[in-house]
Amino acid sequence: MATHTGLTSAVLNYKPPDPLVPEFEAPLDRATFADSKKTSLLSGASKVDDLTPWIGTELHGLQINQLTNAQRDELALLVAERGVVFLRDQEWTLDQQYELTKYWGVPDRDPIQLDPRHVTILGRDNDRGYANFGADFHNDHSFEVNPPAYTILRMDKTPPTGGDTIFTSQVALFDKLSTTYRKLLEGLHGVHSSEVSYVNVINGGGKAFKPPTRQEHPLVRTHPVTKLKTLYYNPTIMIHIKELKEQEGIHMLAFLREHMHAADDLTVRWRWTPGAVAIWDNRSVAHRAVPGGYDKSLREGKRTAIFGEQPFYDPTGQTWSERFNSEEFRDNEGFDYAKKDATAQ
Ligand SMILES: [Fe+2]
Repeated sequence: MATHTGLTSAVLNYKPPDPLVPEFEAPLDRATFADSKKTSLLSGASKVDDLTPWIGTELHGLQINQLTNAQRDELALLVAERGVVFLRDQEWTLDQQYELTKYWGVPDRDPIQLDPRHVTILGRDNDRGYANFGADFHNDHSFEVNPPAYTILRMDKTPPTGGDTIFTSQVALFDKLSTTYRKLLEGLHGVHSSEVSYVNVINGGGKAFKPPTRQEHPLVRTHPVTKLKTLYYNPTIMIHIKELKEQEGIHMLAFLREHMHAADDLTVRWRWTPGAVAIWDNRSVAHRAVPGGYDKSLREGKRTAIFGEQPFYDPTGQTWSERFNSEEFRDNEGFDYAKKDATAQ
């Protein structure tokens, strides 16, 4: 069923109550304050389980609401490094989730978010045709000037099966490309637009809090903490590539979509249970809620997010392979972010 019903009089007469979020300088990422070995966080866990080589770590034996500030900083760093971190059986309250969100930075508000503090995430219907917003891969509202850095999603109700979320590492997607393609993409800009979701929400009888907007962001961006280069492709929100002619852009977007959807080796699929939490890095990870096949009234969660820096591209950043094959990484059994920053100054 098509949900995009165009520029109706309802859309043309609609007056969003809130202005767009102006450009701002995001506070320094809390991960940059962390001990690069993450000793206090990892030693506090009963088990640290990397779910795939590329993306996703599950922490066992920790309650998020009992973490010290040092452990919270290290958790942010672990998310930045591993793309997404999972914990089950969390007993924290929604207020405690808001508190961690605020600790990590400026709480973000999605343009269609009813409660100013969180988005309620529900089940998805049986439409497997990707017409359903959120059913295809995306980075959350990348049409902002300062798109979200970290997203925290807790599930309070989950069906016995179905409703999984798939996360894909865009750092690994970029790394997997040939040198020729990487060079072609670096320096290009994706155009990210909220216009389709704006129109759909109003035509669906909903409320859009902010006017429609579009932003140009680097198609390859550099992660501010890890300094790794990552693809910043968003099949749900990106409408074209600024520097390419129309047919070139259409073909490039089709290639990128295939590249993302063919990346089973670079994804982690998370099966939710009540009380489970996923925290992911929106700058370097795309995600997708798998639709259909379950009782969607049984799925409900709360999502909060933190506004990030304005996406930037630093050509001196490394690809994943360059980092992990580097002498510095091998010699230190890890990457010393603080040392790298000191060297750069
Ligand atoms: Fe999402």
